[in-house]
Amino acid sequence: MKTLLIPADQLSEAAAVIRRGGLVVFPTETVYGLGASAFNPVACVRIFTAKGRPSDNPLIVHIASWEQLDQVAVNIPAEARKLAETFWPGPLSLVLPKHPDLPEIVTSGLPTVAVRWPSNVEAQKFLLESGVPVAAPSANVSGAPSPTNFEMAKSAMLGRVEAILQGDDAEVGLESTIVSFANGEVKVLRPGSITLEQIAQTLGLDPNDLPYQVPQEGRPISPGLKYTHYKPAAEVQLFREPGELKNWFDKDVKVGLMVLEGSVPEDLPSTWEVLKFSDWDDYARYLYASFHELDQLCCGLILAQLPAASGIGLAIANRLQKSAGTV
Ligand code: TXA
Ligand code: MG
Repeated sequence: MKTLLIPADQLSEAAAVIRRGGLVVFPTETVYGLGASAFNPVACVRIFTAKGRPSDNPLIVHIASWEQLDQVAVNIPAEARKLAETFWPGPLSLVLPKHPDLPEIVTSGLPTVAVRWPSNVEAQKFLLESGVPVAAPSANVSGAPSPTNFEMAKSAMLGRVEAILQGDDAEVGLESTIVSFANGEVKVLRPGSITLEQIAQTLGLDPNDLPYQVPQEGRPISPGLKYTHYKPAAEVQLFREPGELKNWFDKDVKVGLMVLEGSVPEDLPSTWEVLKFSDWDDYARYLYASFHELDQLCCGLILAQLPAASGIGLAIANRLQKSAGTV
């Protein structure tokens, strides 16, 4: 398939592709999404094919107005409304009772739908011009890291979609926080840059009453959680303290290192590729792009520094542990 590459100032063309039932990769503040009209079931089926995604893993629906929220969800719980009013537009997806008119393919037959109103300006313009809610998973081939810049989006999706809309690099770099409200209980299904602490504070809850737990094998709360995710071609291993790095000094594969500035030992082997980050937000922003870069540099092993599991660190640790296969 020929893929149109559309500059940001011509995004009306990308919106027209959505209205015609095509697939469009578009930028958001979290990661690039692979979108189709949420009310076109034939187009939505093609999302699963383009990604190689199992059909029991539902899609997030992207909106750009409160009217569109009412087109896709019903009976919105008060806590959900409070979070939406506080954090939308932004990197937060809310799992809500599904509108009966929304095609089943979008939610993989679940009675709920995950909804998000992105803050990225191009994403908002694209959604408004499309005139329909847009179902979109991350624009990676299933299992691989999500694209956080135009080059990665192209390398993942060229030839698989009708169009790729060019945007800036993603500001956040990790997928949205997902919150569900099933049985009157607020649960964080996927940690992200809107932190558990922020959600608890907004709802007047104690953060300890809002745990994010790695789901037990075989009993996924969110269908996507049971699949492998975020894996680069290289093997990923994790460390906390720079002192641990000497364990890998004699490795006979090319090593790529992802580490916070200021924690880099001076005696590293000269063959290592070293990517440094100024703080954990910077680390989150470039995590997937760094995986991509180290793969391109033919590293066989990526050593990635693991943060403490609070704030943005919880989301980074979640993605790193999945990419390393330790959860
Ligand atoms: O930041 C993001 O959320 C990005 C951008 C493009 O918006 N999208 C994204 O989509 O990460 P995806 O498909 O890669 O991840 C969606 C996750 C999956 O784990 C899926 O199982 C879960 O959301 N999900 C979708 N609908 C759900 C539902 N009704 N109940 C529980 N989990 C749901
Ligand atoms: Mg994904």
